[in-house]
Amino acid sequence: MRIRKAVFPVAGLGTRFLPATKASAKEMLPVVDKPLIQYAVAEAVSAGAEELVFITGRSKNSIMDHFDKAYELENELQERGKTKLLEVVQEILPPGITCIFIRQAEALGLGHAVLCAWPAVGDEDFYVILADDLIDGQLRPCLAQMHRVYQEYGTSVLACEQVPHDEIGSYGVVDVKPVGPGLGEIKKIVEKPKPDEAPSNLAVVGRYILTPRIFKILQRTQAGSGGEIQLTDAISQMMQEQTVLAYEFDGKRYDCGSKLGYLKANVEYALKHPEVGEDFRNYLHELSIEEHFEEGKKDHAAG
Ligand code: UTP
Repeated sequence: MRIRKAVFPVAGLGTRFLPATKASAKEMLPVVDKPLIQYAVAEAVSAGAEELVFITGRSKNSIMDHFDKAYELENELQERGKTKLLEVVQEILPPGITCIFIRQAEALGLGHAVLCAWPAVGDEDFYVILADDLIDGQLRPCLAQMHRVYQEYGTSVLACEQVPHDEIGSYGVVDVKPVGPGLGEIKKIVEKPKPDEAPSNLAVVGRYILTPRIFKILQRTQAGSGGEIQLTDAISQMMQEQTVLAYEFDGKRYDCGSKLGYLKANVEYALKHPEVGEDFRNYLHELSIEEHFEEGKKDHAAG
């Protein structure tokens, strides 16, 4: 039981990051020194994916170029003796991994983006990864954790996380029947419910293992919340026929689709970064002392 294909929907408009996303995809925003999409690709490869299917929109070029071989740059680095950097560039895509790019002509919603992957995925179970959800898995990457669940149950698995009550309206929310620790069979799934009508505070985040049945259902799924074709609505339909599990992963998620989540990710990944971590920690320390000092001065002036 292996999953060989991973789908990366990267065709969203990324309006929350305008103007940064005017000419480039949100998934190309860097966290410290790597774009979000590179973290997502590494996670998929660590969970066994060999064929990567990118569903791109108007700003596809930077993503294609990032995973393409850059002969000129590599020659330049070679000539300048920058071997470490050469390795960094050559390791972006591990050997034996194939990339496929499919255009989603219009951003009609995540469900529609996943449907666009059908010709490349065919009749196989597959991963879907939303790169703007950056997940720092505790013991192993989130997708690899989900793959273990999949190997045991052989069915669709959605990554889930408890979210605060006032944020629930931004997510697909599930009601589950517990199956094991951190694992439940989904009984109900609702996209962006009103907080008081939400079935729980367990939200679906950007990692899915899906069976190909989802494509047939997506074909006839109408636009739902926000006028978009929602993956959640198709999953709700699929649950009538197949078991869909909700898995509460071990790890920390950063919502890099929002400015605050993105900034938090940069700070925490920078603190752990082998090259800049220590200096950055010292810098934050100095900054907090300065802030403290300024606050003290203001309090003193206010009497
Ligand atoms: P979001 O809901 O974050 O939307 O999409 P967005 O357009 O990217 O960003 P905002 O809200 O305007 O700031 C969730 C994921 O689904 C992809 C996005 O690229 C993102 O990874 N997506 C969404 C598509 O690929 N196509 C779509 O039509 C919509």
